[in-house]
Amino acid sequence: MASLNTLFYLGVCLSAGILTSADENLPKVQNVRWVSVDFTTVLHWTTTTSDYRYTVMYTGNEDFWSESFHCHQMSETACDLSTDLTMNSTYNVQIKTVPVPEDDLEYDDELDKFPHSYSPPFNPFKDTNISAVNFTVQAVDERRVNVTITEPLSGVHKGDKQLSLRDIFKSELKYKISYYKFGSTGKRDIISDSSTAEVSELNAGQSYCFMVAVLIHTRPKSTQLGAWSAQKCLPGDEMSLGAWVGAVVVLLTFVVVVAMVTVLCCKCCRQKNPSQSSTPI
Ligand SMILES: *[C@@H]1O[C@H](CO)[C@@H](O)[C@H](O)[C@H]1NC(C)=O
Ligand SMILES: *[C@@H]1O[C@H](CO)[C@@H](O)[C@H](O)[C@H]1NC(C)=O
Ligand SMILES: *[C@@H]1O[C@H](CO)[C@@H](O)[C@H](O)[C@H]1NC(C)=O
Ligand SMILES: *[C@@H]1O[C@H](CO)[C@@H](O)[C@H](O)[C@H]1NC(C)=O
Repeated sequence: MASLNTLFYLGVCLSAGILTSADENLPKVQNVRWVSVDFTTVLHWTTTTSDYRYTVMYTGNEDFWSESFHCHQMSETACDLSTDLTMNSTYNVQIKTVPVPEDDLEYDDELDKFPHSYSPPFNPFKDTNISAVNFTVQAVDERRVNVTITEPLSGVHKGDKQLSLRDIFKSELKYKISYYKFGSTGKRDIISDSSTAEVSELNAGQSYCFMVAVLIHTRPKSTQLGAWSAQKCLPGDEMSLGAWVGAVVVLLTFVVVVAMVTVLCCKCCRQKNPSQSSTPI
């Protein structure tokens, strides 16, 4: 049966002509994979030879394929599709292997006859990774701090404006703030709708550490949470300065007390000694 199929396809190839069979021998690209952070989305692939060029085509929910303008008969093995994949839909991409163009020859009319590999499906709204955010912590009083998060930007531009993740996810974008008492393992979390949040009911005089990550509940579990930021602790440097001042005050007090005790003792001694020394020998 298999050999019958082979014979059949061999027959088809032969009858279709030698040119077509040569095109079908172009190697397909391999290991097609996405790398996407904050909507900057790059498709990577590998190839065994550098003898060919690649043309990238994509489709969202449409029933046609669009060509990516900047990934056209290219020799690189990566294509930045950030400006092409802008909708909240699942995209499929094909990478066509085409011959190196000679004399500005374009293959657009005959793209169908070149072999292609497919990417895994990709939806930037669901699948792009979200990077760590930047934030500051400020003490409000002994038991409350303010956490202020820098609104994270995306790799998407609309006209001149670089869109923030808030512009894209709107009210779906939240922040998870995780904090713990310095030196303890118990963590507590709060979810904030906005980029400024107050954390209250802290123990006065205790040091706390904070971390922040973007949280989008409407995304799949594996991408709901962005990368965690580096932690920031409060009181930070002010505390160690305070501790130093405290230590110096304690030391000074100790010195003063020792000095006073010494002085008092000497007075006592002198009051006793004159009576002794006044005794004639
Ligand atoms: C997102 O990050 C994870 C973990 O680092 C990685 O395995 C995955 O490939 C990344 N996805 C994209 C689309 O970059
Ligand atoms: C975070 O913000 C601080 C203060 O605004 C700044 O000095 C620092 O460079 C920022 N870090 C990052 C990774 O953006
Ligand atoms: C803390 O945040 C609140 C509201 O978010 C604001 O009114 C207040 O001024 C902030 N305090 C400090 C010390 O930043
Ligand atoms: C993207 O589409 C999904 C499914 O329709 C929807 O649940 C989600 O809210 C959309 N996200 C954004 C940011 O538009």
